[in-house]
Amino acid sequence: MSRIYIEQLQEVAGQQVTLHGWLYNKRSSGKIRFLVMRDGTGFVQGVIAKGAVSDEVFARFDELTQESAFTMTGTVRAEKRSPGGFEMDVTDLKILHIAHDYPITPKEHGTDFLMDRRHLWLRSSRQHAILRVRHQVIKSIREFFDGRGFTLVDAPIFTPAACEGTSTLFETKYFDLGSAYLTQSGQLYGEAGAMAFGKVYVFGPTFRAEKSKTRRHLTEFWMVEPEVAFNDLNDNMDLAEAMLEHVVQSCLKNRAAELKLLERNTAMLENVKAPLPRITYDEAVEILHKNGIAFEWGNDLGGTDETVVSQQFDRPVMVHRYPSEVKAFYMKRDPQNPKVALAVDVLAPEGYGEIIGGSQREDDFDALLGRIKEHNLPQSAFDWYLDLRRYGSVPHAGFGLGIERTVSWICGLDHLREAIPFPRMIYRLTP
Ligand code: 4AD
Ligand code: MG
Repeated sequence: MSRIYIEQLQEVAGQQVTLHGWLYNKRSSGKIRFLVMRDGTGFVQGVIAKGAVSDEVFARFDELTQESAFTMTGTVRAEKRSPGGFEMDVTDLKILHIAHDYPITPKEHGTDFLMDRRHLWLRSSRQHAILRVRHQVIKSIREFFDGRGFTLVDAPIFTPAACEGTSTLFETKYFDLGSAYLTQSGQLYGEAGAMAFGKVYVFGPTFRAEKSKTRRHLTEFWMVEPEVAFNDLNDNMDLAEAMLEHVVQSCLKNRAAELKLLERNTAMLENVKAPLPRITYDEAVEILHKNGIAFEWGNDLGGTDETVVSQQFDRPVMVHRYPSEVKAFYMKRDPQNPKVALAVDVLAPEGYGEIIGGSQREDDFDALLGRIKEHNLPQSAFDWYLDLRRYGSVPHAGFGLGIERTVSWICGLDHLREAIPFPRMIYRLTP
């Protein structure tokens, strides 16, 4: 027998069915009892009239507490006034488990209190909506790349060396081989994949021992990283903007109810369509200066700088050609101006800042080896990576999109911690 879920009620209108779920809340009015069940797919109100059910069943209503598990049998009836469009005239209730003193009540709780109970907080409708948007973001990313002939290449999580600078590495003992580091990015492996398959994407968790306690930083986050052989920086920007359009439009189309529940004003999201504005780092610096910010050429853009730049646009903006000094060792320098790297960051509007970082990669063996030495990286750990420049090296480019930053922006959240089921931050390792 297939189970009926609340989201399927329209298929069984007029029929007698049994629903399985948990008590969201309940109330009484005269001889009628109302209870709201949630089953993970939606909410439905059950109506119990005294006399219509046995006294035993009627009494069970009194036993049910918030988050108790039960089944409810009855006839499904269309009801325009109810949020899901249906109600159930209940004929039977079975209690499966009584929950005692569920800690999260409809009253306001502080974020720390809720984060300590994240395993329960996930049941509330707001968290539920956010994580459904997250699912849509991930699903639409896979759709986008799978539909364009990309091959998924999984990168390892234990790695021998840094990809994004040594300051944010998590180190762990690795048997007799010394230390292993949790991956900061699967990119280097993605590059090997691109030389094998032409176009690939890496999609997995990444780790940064970020000391920053900002609303934009997690120590464990998910990243999708496409990498394409023969692509240059412009091709890379074309790919990033097409992907962003697909992801945002897919969320608007398929998760409208969730975005509404989150009270997200979607006007700016509707604008996310190619082409997106592209400006150079130099132009970004000009914008900062025009806005009275004393910004020195050569620095990386900070959070507030990003906000000021992105405020000039009504959709995400691509900033390219950053000073090579502030960017990673693997980025190719612009042959027209070696002071800048063929890098691109995509800044989301509404103060959400960088959601994508990417570049064209250094494809010349000697230049790359020089860069590895300059950055004091252990050459032996990068020998395999240099092989990609020894055997059939070609121009190639890719980028990384942070999933939580994207979800946070699409949902309009204040902090990244709600964009992932169980956030890991400098001061949080549980639940
Ligand atoms: O700009 P990042 O560091 O780029 C890379 O890791 C490249 N290897 C990607 C590539 O070219 N394949 O990180 C990429 C994105 C950022 O734009 C941001 O969205 C996200 O990853 N990110 C974080 N998200 C949450 N918490 C953190 N601590 C993050 N650090 C980066
Ligand atoms: Mg970056």
